[in-house]
Amino acid sequence: MIDGLGRRIDYLRLSVTDRCDLRCRYCMAEDMNFLPRSAVLSIEEMSELATRFVARGIRRIRLTGGEPLVRRGIDVLAMRLGALIGHGLDELTLTTNAMRLAEHAPMLAAAGVRRINVSLDTLDSEAFRHITRVGDLAVALRGVEAAREAGLAVKINMVALAGLNEDQLLPMLDYCGTRGFDLTLIETMPLGEIADDRSDHYIPLHQFIAPLRAERAIFPIDKRTGGPARYFAVEGSSVALGLITPLSDNFCATCNRIRLTVEGRIYMCLGQDDHVDLRTRLREGGDVDGLIDAALAGKPRAHDFHIERKSRPSVARHMSATGG
Ligand code: GTP
Ligand code: 5AD
Ligand code: SF4
Repeated sequence: MIDGLGRRIDYLRLSVTDRCDLRCRYCMAEDMNFLPRSAVLSIEEMSELATRFVARGIRRIRLTGGEPLVRRGIDVLAMRLGALIGHGLDELTLTTNAMRLAEHAPMLAAAGVRRINVSLDTLDSEAFRHITRVGDLAVALRGVEAAREAGLAVKINMVALAGLNEDQLLPMLDYCGTRGFDLTLIETMPLGEIADDRSDHYIPLHQFIAPLRAERAIFPIDKRTGGPARYFAVEGSSVALGLITPLSDNFCATCNRIRLTVEGRIYMCLGQDDHVDLRTRLREGGDVDGLIDAALAGKPRAHDFHIERKSRPSVARHMSATGG
């Protein structure tokens, strides 16, 4: 699949639920309205659409949410999509908050998942509770260990948050280093209304890593995972440190992805509101491929993100609706 600007699209992010068992401050408001069941694709509908996307040239699928492991039937979906590996699909991955990973890690490995990304912004249990509002760090860490025991490669995702986790970069590097994990830092993106003013916590990554850079050499390496991260080696550490900088240095020119939401919408860009509804067409038995073509043709050049003090978010929907 080639978009209107000549970019090859071979990566699908599939959001399997908009719900989550955490309420991270940078992602959600405390009270969220979730989608009614009738609006949500069934596991059968999701696997039918995903299979169609693979036939159209998608080589990698990442399951996201909300939190994908709270979706009932995720095991069935993972098994069905895992069966496509080697038949058009190269890789099936998942991004999770790890709260239910202890229960699901063996199932994911059995389905053919080889690596997962875990959202973990701090190793301090009080800060973890503050950031997630409701989470217990010990549960997340047990989930991560279970993934390791199941043989899954782990990458930790850490959203850089001024005043909330700037002290956690070195502890997180050590944690990842001793376990053979990679670590990716992410700039907070302005999607959806939250209680805080995002500009209070936004910090460009070059600033977030400045204290580390003052102590240790950091140099670019060639690693690529097909995602937006640019990877660096850190002196004295075995961890590949990824930087995702949508605000301070965007990577839209090399974008390779589209997103399918649990409502059956294709969003062509995370940072933009244009979308195409596949659900109605799918349920009516009409021409879904024509809609996919229209979505590809309309994929924007770049996102609309900007962070301004007290302003409304650039994009009204929450990250959890599109799966990041
Ligand atoms: P791999 O490179 O395959 O490990 O995946 P990834 O880093 O793309 O996926 P992950 O789900 O771990 O996402 C990490 C962060 O990158 C999240 O905050 C996503 O919202 C963000 N992200 C992923 N893709 C895009 C994108 O296309 N545009 C923007 N702006 N952010 C993205
Ligand atoms: N900005 C940046 N990253 C975010 N995530 C969730 N909300 C935001 C946001 N507003 C991250 C999660 C997860 C990934 C899918 O997206 O922490 O790691
Ligand atoms: Fe692609 Fe949009 Fe992300 Fe840019 S912001 S990399 S165009 S999805």
